[in-house]
Amino acid sequence: MFGPDFVFGSATASYQIEGAVAADGRRPSIWDTYSHTPGKVWNGDTGDVACDHYNRLDEDLDIMASLGLDSYRFSVAWPRIVPEGTGAVNQPGIDFYSRLVDGLLERGITPVATLYHWDLPQTLEDAGGWPARATAEAFADYAAVVGRALGDRVATWTTLNEPWCSAYLGYGSGAHAPGRTDGADALAAVHHLNLAHGLGVQALRSVVTNEPDYSVTLNFHVLRGEGETGPAAMQKIDALANRAFTHPILKGEYPADLIAQTAEVTDWAFVRPGDLEAINQPLDVLGVNYYSTARVRLWDGVSPRQNSDGHKDMGGSPWPGASDVEFVPQPGPYTDMGWNIEPAGLDELLGALHEEFPGLPLMITENGAAFADTVTDAGDIHDPDRIDYLHRHLAAVHRAIARGVDVRGYFVWSLFDNFEWGYGYSKRFGIVRVDYDTLQRTPKDSAGWFAELVASHRLHA
Ligand code: FCB
Repeated sequence: MFGPDFVFGSATASYQIEGAVAADGRRPSIWDTYSHTPGKVWNGDTGDVACDHYNRLDEDLDIMASLGLDSYRFSVAWPRIVPEGTGAVNQPGIDFYSRLVDGLLERGITPVATLYHWDLPQTLEDAGGWPARATAEAFADYAAVVGRALGDRVATWTTLNEPWCSAYLGYGSGAHAPGRTDGADALAAVHHLNLAHGLGVQALRSVVTNEPDYSVTLNFHVLRGEGETGPAAMQKIDALANRAFTHPILKGEYPADLIAQTAEVTDWAFVRPGDLEAINQPLDVLGVNYYSTARVRLWDGVSPRQNSDGHKDMGGSPWPGASDVEFVPQPGPYTDMGWNIEPAGLDELLGALHEEFPGLPLMITENGAAFADTVTDAGDIHDPDRIDYLHRHLAAVHRAIARGVDVRGYFVWSLFDNFEWGYGYSKRFGIVRVDYDTLQRTPKDSAGWFAELVASHRLHA
């Protein structure tokens, strides 16, 4: 049984569902450019149409209401609000999110807004992207614009979604937009994303008129060590993947081992006096995205180096300064992403965060699974694997709460099947199916299962 105040919701992101990429003054983001570059996304898929959510807002709001969601986590597309990244504000873009927020509130659904879920205006990338400090400053201005427009109604502000992906997949491995492959750029991006978070929180605070919660969403790497060298490898990856964000954001410092282990890649001169104070803003809740675990050891330098880290291989490395670490395959079962299913990793993570950052409430801002759904002749989608995945992870959340961890809510990724980044439309995460030919939405069995949970607050078979 979950407490009466525990929030059940579902999450999406702008580029993954909205489509309408040229509507009402929106200008290209790095994901438009990247997805239109041959060879970057499976099947040549792009977000041009996606779920066409931009044009089907009312229908989609009604779906959320029919599931009884307490809350909806969406992201705002920067290129709809400040299409050139800096400068002119695009009122029709603001109007769209204002209608979304009003539509949620009318239906009794609490809005949780993420300011950046990876769709950087292309003009800012052309000017240097996240490795450039000016992008963090532009983000603060954009945050103020959105805060002024929606800062009387949004309940929780999340500055960034998974800056790990923006920095390391965008600028290190090349598996995400903009597809650059330079370790030093990736680390500069880490810092400027952290800075954007801090400046963004300050900007929001200075303009909103209600009393929202402030937050950031991180994708933690829950690590397992293999063999004798496991602990050393775990420490390196933990520094790059987890502490590179939690320590500046929550403690106002970069870990000394992170600086040392990346010394051959960068001297961190982009960290200026005052930056860490700016980054270290008080937060009300920490967003946790969790899907799977990773298994590491030090590479022997001779055998072919394994990189089963769950991310697409596009030539570069998402692990600057850690070329001596390898990611070894893990035991199944697996989802359709090839990610291993390990619910115990979630309560372990929640417990560890609670211990390291006592007093900071946690929110599961994403958890869910892709499976290759089939539609029956009657038009139903029976997805027992997804239900089982959600059930077992919610049981893990419940175990953590029972041990005293302050977890405030859980958002299923995702409300709809959508554009799964480098994998295009091939991976279906939704509890509601989207037929990409007709754009028809059909709740899967998992949607019914989740609706029952939301209504009863009780995990059932
Ligand atoms: C997370 C992203 C989200 C979605 C899920 C599967 O890394 O935040 O947009 O792609 O993974």
